[in-house]
Amino acid sequence: MSEVPVLEVGGINKAYNHVPVLQDVSLKVEAGQVRSLIGHNGAGKSTLLRILAGAESADSGLLKVAGTVRTFSSPRDAQNAGVAAVYQELRLLPELTVAENIYLGQETHNGIFLDRRSMAQSAQRILEAHHILVDPNQKVRYLSHAQRQLVEVIAALERNAKVILLDEPTTALQSEQIDDLITTVKNIASVGQVGVIFVSHKLEEVWAIADAITVLRDGSVVLDASKDSVDRQTVTRFIVGDAYDQQQQDLTSGTRLSGVHNIHSSPSNNSEEPLLTVHGVESAALRNISLDVKRGEVVGLYGLVGSGRSDFFKLLYGLETLLKGTIYVQGQLYRPRSPRDAMHHGIAYVTEERKYDGFIPMLSTIQNVALPSISRFQTAGWVHRTKVDRAVNDTMRPLNMRGDVNRAVKTLSGGNQQKMLFARTLLQEPQLVLLDEPTKGIDIGAKAEIHRLVRKFASEKGVGVLVISSEEEELLEVSDRIIVFRDGFSSDAFEASDLTETNLRNLAL
Ligand SMILES: Nc1ncnc2c1ncn2[C@@H]1O[C@H](COP(=O)(O)OP(=O)(O)OP(=O)(O)O)[C@@H](O)[C@H]1O
Ligand SMILES: [Mg+2]
Repeated sequence: MSEVPVLEVGGINKAYNHVPVLQDVSLKVEAGQVRSLIGHNGAGKSTLLRILAGAESADSGLLKVAGTVRTFSSPRDAQNAGVAAVYQELRLLPELTVAENIYLGQETHNGIFLDRRSMAQSAQRILEAHHILVDPNQKVRYLSHAQRQLVEVIAALERNAKVILLDEPTTALQSEQIDDLITTVKNIASVGQVGVIFVSHKLEEVWAIADAITVLRDGSVVLDASKDSVDRQTVTRFIVGDAYDQQQQDLTSGTRLSGVHNIHSSPSNNSEEPLLTVHGVESAALRNISLDVKRGEVVGLYGLVGSGRSDFFKLLYGLETLLKGTIYVQGQLYRPRSPRDAMHHGIAYVTEERKYDGFIPMLSTIQNVALPSISRFQTAGWVHRTKVDRAVNDTMRPLNMRGDVNRAVKTLSGGNQQKMLFARTLLQEPQLVLLDEPTKGIDIGAKAEIHRLVRKFASEKGVGVLVISSEEEELLEVSDRIIVFRDGFSSDAFEASDLTETNLRNLAL
């Protein structure tokens, strides 16, 4: 067998508006190998993948697929050369069947007719070979996100891809679905002798899937190693850079985290009447929810998908109808009607899906962050620009955002957009904050910082926070108390300090 890598990238450079985003990036992927590409938000991962997929062009550098030098001027060029990208926004056609999607553009014909049967049969064979439980005759519309993603990977494979690029494929998935995806991708790589680049912020996943690791920091490769030759701590150090040593120092000397734990053990104003009281609430998705949140308290909501956690947030934010039960906010009866009404009651909501979160892609980051709070910076119709800039910058500084805050927000990397939304919420000075998966897509370095900010925000401003997270470790770290949702019912509240990750998982079943 030849030893030519399926993909070889040499000296790639890319700048936007004269700001370098990729600098002399080189990497190789062998046939059958999974290479994890990791790095902080804005490190350049998605940009590199877009270049490899022909969706963007490099300023300079060399690209070889299976030993042949290539230049791509469109995604189609890349596909024809055997490079297939699977993005978060999946590109399957919902009204076509699974089989039709897999063979789109290369349909089998029987005379002048589409040979649906033979396409369905080959789809069935390949899906079965990879243990994917999806009916090839089902319309894609009826599939879960996880199933769609697997179908896209299979479609890439059936187009004879030599290289498959996956940009944060697990962010929208639950843990069992992540395991399935990892197994399938590994299997495809080794059986099909395909090379895979897998982008993720979760080292656990990287360790489960990768043969080799490339770490990008500020657009440069700072580590290229086989997985077996490094440990997670080393990799984290390469991702975070100099800040890592500071973080570790703080950890060992206890300055930051001990502060956090002090807050943990004594939520402020504990005796006060609750900020939020929910009693016997029912809606289309909720059967019986009762809970309360005090000022200065972070309450975590845990549960499986479909347990009602996100539905509960939508209800509080006026996006779903309350059928039964009572809700009090700051001692007053509250009947959610609309998001506007919720905002008037001091409720802010950061949803799980950034693309539905109503930021304006063409406006700058500063403008987007300030927009909902703009009245605070106005006198007689005049906006105090310097005050706005200062307030926004002060709010964002601890989040370690990368990217130009004066440019259109759509140019920020995925994780930095998430940080922007978080900053926007903080600036609104809400009373009650609803956070749905607040660190989804956030890099390792900023994650701890967001946890700390959530706790600090609650304790210093006396705000109540409700947070949903599927990561047990995160929920235990950030919450004072945790409530488990199951089939639309809520449990009693548990002190986070009394729980372990295993406890939590068992409670949700
Ligand atoms: N069209 C663009 N115009 C200007 N700058 C851009 C554009 N696209 C990306 N950038 C900048 O390039 C840098 C790298 O972004 P990229 O999306 O590649 O990061 P990433 O490593 O994928 O981050 P994340 O982990 O947050 O997804 C960022 O600073 C981003 O703001
Ligand atoms: Mg990205």
